[in-house]
Amino acid sequence: MKFKQKEVSSIMKILAVNGSARDFGNSYNILNSCLNSFDKNNNMTELVQLSELQIKSCTSCYSCKSPGNPCVIQDDISTVNNKILESDLLIISSPIYMWQISALTKIFMERLYPLYHFDKPSELSGKKLILIFTQAAPDENMFNSYFEHVKASMIFLGFDVIDIIVVPGLRMPTDYEKFPDIPNKIKSLIGREFLL
Ligand SMILES: Cc1cc2nc3c(=O)[nH]c(=O)nc-3n(C[C@H](O)[C@H](O)[C@H](O)COP(=O)(O)O)c2cc1C
Repeated sequence: MKFKQKEVSSIMKILAVNGSARDFGNSYNILNSCLNSFDKNNNMTELVQLSELQIKSCTSCYSCKSPGNPCVIQDDISTVNNKILESDLLIISSPIYMWQISALTKIFMERLYPLYHFDKPSELSGKKLILIFTQAAPDENMFNSYFEHVKASMIFLGFDVIDIIVVPGLRMPTDYEKFPDIPNKIKSLIGREFLL
């Protein structure tokens, strides 16, 4: 889980989080192809596979809401959350399971809660976020209201959600190849947001 650095000029740190239970499926491959395209532009990139990490569910102890207290759960989430805080851009990719984000992605999102505070601004305030949803349903608009709901929850935490990208019609791990333009789409979004 180390940022991969190419030639350095104006370095932007891009962290990608794959919430699929299938290690090298569409959600992974879409992120990976995006990160590979960013490398040419002198970025630092890293892809985190949630499925490879020990991440427990939030226990709702509210310890993190006492000023200065970190999350009490000892697992891999503190490493991931520190990487998010260091990054300029976070890209989360989740498959849709049973009309919702994957359980892995949901647990990860819940564990962002220690970065949100009652007594001071969220540590995630203004952090740029792109959400990618992969699904088998061919209609990319089928879950739009749900995606807006997930987006709203991320805005609540403080993120600046710059776009939602829905990739429909995916079943086999290489079906993502039907959408070769996604890296360019993400690059143009980043160019718009960061005025590259
Ligand atoms: C348990 C399970 C439930 C799924 N539920 C849905 C669903 O409700 N709607 C849908 O469009 N696709 C559904 N799918 C299909 C996946 O979202 C789709 O194949 C996705 O690309 C898988 O991502 P991956 O290739 O990264 O594993 C489901 C797949 C699984 C394994």
